Amino acid sequence: MDRIKITGGERLNGSIAISGAKNAALPLMIASLLSDETLTLRNVPRLADVAMLTRILGNHGVDMSVDGKRAGANGDDGDTLHLTARTIVDTTAPYDLVSRMRASFWVLGPLLARCRETKVSLPGGCAIGTRPVDLHLMGFEKLGANIQLEDGYVLASAPDGLTGAHIVFPKVSVGATHNVMMAATLAKGETILENAAREPEVADVAACLVKMGADIEGIGTSTLRIRGVERLHGACHKVLPDRIETGTYAMAVAMTGGEVELVGARADLLDSLFPIMAQAGVEMTATNQGIKVARNGARLQPVTTETEPYPGFPTDLQAQLMALMTMADGDSEITETIFENRFMHVQELARLGADVTLDGDRATVHGVDSLKGAQVMATDLRASVSLVIAGLVAEGDTIINRVYHLDRGFERIEKKLGACGARIERLTG
Ligand code: UD1
Repeated sequence: MDRIKITGGERLNGSIAISGAKNAALPLMIASLLSDETLTLRNVPRLADVAMLTRILGNHGVDMSVDGKRAGANGDDGDTLHLTARTIVDTTAPYDLVSRMRASFWVLGPLLARCRETKVSLPGGCAIGTRPVDLHLMGFEKLGANIQLEDGYVLASAPDGLTGAHIVFPKVSVGATHNVMMAATLAKGETILENAAREPEVADVAACLVKMGADIEGIGTSTLRIRGVERLHGACHKVLPDRIETGTYAMAVAMTGGEVELVGARADLLDSLFPIMAQAGVEMTATNQGIKVARNGARLQPVTTETEPYPGFPTDLQAQLMALMTMADGDSEITETIFENRFMHVQELARLGADVTLDGDRATVHGVDSLKGAQVMATDLRASVSLVIAGLVAEGDTIINRVYHLDRGFERIEKKLGACGARIERLTG
C-alpha cells in the first residue's frame, strides 16, 4: 500500500492548478444514466473515486470513452469523459461496488426514473458517522415509488413511472437533493424540493440537467421546482472547480507561509473561507486567474467557527482548518454540526504533537509552537489531507499510511505540492 513521506519546513511558492470538483463530477457522471444519448463531461478530475464510479456505471451498461489533455507545466485540464447509457443492461448496483463509495448510491434515482425499478446496495464510503439514507428514500416514496429494504439492498419500483410531488427535506442533504432531483426530471408533473442543498455542486448538476433538457427553476436556492419531461438528451458540460481542493491548498500555504496562486479556483465559491483566513492572518485575494494566498512572517491567529451547509463553512474543510490551527497563537474552537464522529483526525494530529480537546461536537485546538514528524494513518478523505498540511511544517519526516483515502479525492497531491517547493514523495508498495 502506498505511503506519503513529507519532510516538513519548506515554504510553498508558485502556482497550483485546481482540478474539477469531485463532488460534482460524481453526480454528473451518474446523470448520464438518465439519457440514451451521450453526455460529455470536461474537466473531470483523475481520482480513484472517478475510476470506481466508471466501473459501477459500466456495470449498468454505460459506454465510456476518455480523452484528456495536459495544459502546461503545472496545469491540467483533467479528462473529458463521454458517457452513453444507450441501454441499461443491469438495474442492480451490487454491494461490492456501492460499499466502496457512498455517492454510488445516487444511481438509484436515475435508474428508478428511467427503468422504473432498481436494486441498490446500501452505501459505504468514508467512515464518518452513521450517514443514513432515510431522506433519499422518503423523497422517492413521495414521488410514488415503492421502497423495500431486503438483505442490505434497497428495492425501489414505480411500475407506472414516478409522479411529481411536494417534498420538504427535514434536514439539508447534498446526496438526497442530487438523487431526488435527478429522479424528478423524468417524473410526471411538477416536483418541488424544499430545504434542498444549495451546494455549488448541486447547482452544477442542475445546470447540466437543464442542458440535457430538464426543466428546473430555483437553481442555487433551497427551493427547486422541477417539471418532469418525457426524456433527456445528450449534452456537454464542464465540471466546476473544486472548492474543497482550493480551500485545502489555501490552508497548506497558510500553514507553511509563502505565496501561491490557485489557478482556476473560484473565489465566489468560498465566501465562508475568506473571513476565517483573514482572521487567521492569511491573505487571500481573488485574481484574474483564480485566488492568491499568502502568509509572510507573522504567526497564525486562532479562529472560532462551525461547519454548516453551504454557504456556511464546509465540513469537508474542517479537518484541514484544525490542522492549521494546531500552530496558531492561542486557542481555536471548531464545531462540527454536519457529521457526528468526524474528528478521527484528532488522534493522528496528536501524534504529531497537536493539542486538541474534544467535547461532543466541539473541538478546542490549543495552538503549539511546533509539530514533530511521526507515522500517522489516514482515516478518511479529508482527515488524511489534514495530516499532509500538518506534515508540511512538522520537524523531520511524517509518513502517512493508507494513502488510498487521499487518492480518492486529491489529484496528484504530491506533484502539486512538490512543484511549489514541498518535500513530499510517494513511497509505493
Ligand atoms: C456530500 C459530500 C461530502 C460532504 C457532505 C456534506 C459528495 C460526494 N459528498 O456527502 O463530501 O461532506 O455532502 O457537505 O458530494 N443525512 C441523513 N439522512 C439522509 C442523508 C443524510 O440523516 O438520508 C445526514 C447525514 O448523516 C449528515 C447530513 O445529513 O449528517 C449531511 O449529509 P449529506 O449532505 O447527505 O452528505 P453526502 O451527500 O453523503
